[in-house]
This record gives sequence, structure tokens and C-alpha cells, in this order.
Amino acid sequence: MCDTKEKTMRIAVLTSGGDAPGMNAAIRAVVRTARVNGIEVFGVRRGYAGLIAGDLIPMDLRTVSDIIHRGGTKLYTARSKEFEEDNGMRAALKTCIDYQIDGLVVIGGDGSFRGALDFSRLKEKNGEPCKGLPLCIGIPGTIDNDIGCTDYTIGYDTSLNTIMDMVDRVRDTTESHDRCCVIEVMGRHAGFLALNAGIAVGATTILVPEFKYDIQHDVIDRMRRTQNTGKEHFIIMVAEGVAKDIEGGVEALARKIEAETNVESRAVVLGHVQRGGAPTCKDRVVASIMGNYAVKKLLMKGIGNRVVCMKNEKVFDLDIEEALKMTKSLDRELYDISYEISI
Ligand code: F6P
Repeated sequence: MCDTKEKTMRIAVLTSGGDAPGMNAAIRAVVRTARVNGIEVFGVRRGYAGLIAGDLIPMDLRTVSDIIHRGGTKLYTARSKEFEEDNGMRAALKTCIDYQIDGLVVIGGDGSFRGALDFSRLKEKNGEPCKGLPLCIGIPGTIDNDIGCTDYTIGYDTSLNTIMDMVDRVRDTTESHDRCCVIEVMGRHAGFLALNAGIAVGATTILVPEFKYDIQHDVIDRMRRTQNTGKEHFIIMVAEGVAKDIEGGVEALARKIEAETNVESRAVVLGHVQRGGAPTCKDRVVASIMGNYAVKKLLMKGIGNRVVCMKNEKVFDLDIEEALKMTKSLDRELYDISYEISI
């Protein structure tokens, strides 16, 4: 007698790379969309490392209650070197086969999408695709907003608002003491956070890795010019990607500024406060839409190897490989505006 009962679809969801506020909202949307449509869901803990170790937990409607408003990720996250190796990937595949996982949603940055792409290309010895390889979908989640295929990445808005709030506080004390404060914000390779938060806090100068800068011209001379117009306190915003190229980092820059301008200076590295905290409304909404899209518009239709993207507020999807080739540039006009008005 043959069994004609169709297998229930099973998917897994993981968060990978640096965490970002809103990841929980995305997990919730993936799980809820799947469950209400009769799909079984597993949460993989600690990203690809958890997939290798077989650290999966069943997820249900109530497993994702009370997380939409929380920063971090309920599923924990990690950067797995092991997953970059063939053995690691094969161990992850074994987990997918053991759990009969048909689809995998990866919430993370472009490194995590590259992992998903390599995973989807895993071949048997004879060159045929491996049996049991799940359909992979990427959802962009990183505070850096540095994924080329999408205007927006989950976590970016929360981080911008945190930076703005923190710098407003720094500004109070900077102003009280007639000082200069050099502030380093995250963004290893990208200046989206520095530029947009910098304009929001009225930074005198913003240094980002994408645009050429000259410390003498853009920081010292500019401060002197504004001093001549009566300005007595200054915020200098520096992206992490620039700070690492300055010998001695932002501390050394603050000392140089003090020596050359006579304005007492301090350096503040905002650090990981920028990555935590309750997600903003925008991050919760975008994450919910993207999580729903990944399941309903893609996995449920048997579509894999796609990244969920957003352009002009509209959500759509792209082939992972194509998506990874795409770049986006920092808004030069915005940079020029900030230069003109922060005087
Ligand atoms: O999430 C991306 C990012 O915020 C980068 O801007 C930063 O360089 C990096 O994470 C630091 O992450 P970690 O301290 O977790 O290695």
C-alpha cells in the first residue's frame, strides 16, 4: 500500500552575523506566517553554528510572543568560520536532512547571504545538487545598512535614533564646557550611520570611508572657520571605517584637534549601545513585512535562493547571487548639504 499523504512543509529560521534591532520582529513574522499556513517551523540557535550542531527548537505561535518590541535576537547569533568549510556545510546539510527542512530563512548581512548561496550550491560528488538541500531565503538585517541590493536593512533606523539620542546627550555636556567631541560610530565599511546620524545631530564635520577627507582641511580648518563665526562647541562624527585608519583612532584625533585649535576635546566611541535596544516602529514594520514575504511569497511557492529587498518602500526579491553583486552608494548630495549647513 502506498502512502499518498503529502509531507507537511518544514522550514527553519536563523539569525546570523551582528545582531540588529528588529530581528525578533522578523523571526516572529516568519514563524507566525508559517504556522497559520500549516507549515512547521524550527528556530536554529546561534546562526550557522547551530545548524552545524543541530541546535534547533520547534517554534509555535506562542514561542514568538512578546518579542516584537525587544532588541537582540531570541535565536542568538554567531559568525561561523566552520560553516565556510566544506565539512561544516555538510554537517549543516545533515541537520537539514535529519529534520527534513525544506526551506531556510537567514536573517543577517551579506556575509550571511554568501553563506546561504554557498550552501545552496553544495554538490554531491557527481555534481548533482544534494538531496535535502533547503530552499534558502535571505532577509537583510544589519544596523550598517550596507547591503547593496536593498535601500533598507532591519535595525538601521533604530541604530540611527540611538546614535542621535546619545549624541544629543554628549552635545549637552560638550556645549556646557565649550568643548569639541569626536564621536566614533559603527560602520566597518560604510558611512550610512555616520552620515545620516551626523546630519541629524548637526555635526561640524562627518568623516566617512566612502568620501575622501583631509583632517587638516575638513576638521581643523573648518573648526577654525566656524570659531571665527562665534561657534564654541563642536561635534565631529567619524565612521568606524575611518577611525581605524587614523593612527591612534579618535583619541588621537581629539588630541590633535585640541593642540591645533585650543578647544578642549574628548573622544567618545559609542560602541555596542548602537546595536541594542527596542526596535523603532519602522524596524518592527519592515521586519514584519519582510518575514511574511519570505514565507508567503517565496517558500510557500517553492521559490528559493532569493533575498528579500526594499526599494522606494516596496518589498520585492532578487536572486541571491545577483543581489550580492550589487552595490549602493552613499548620498553625496546629503553629505554636501551637511557640509554647507553645519557651519
Ligand atoms: O553589525 C555590523 C557591525 O555593527 C559593524 O559596524 C561593526 O564593525 C561590527 O558590527 C562589530 O561587531 P562585533 O563587535 O560583534 O564583532
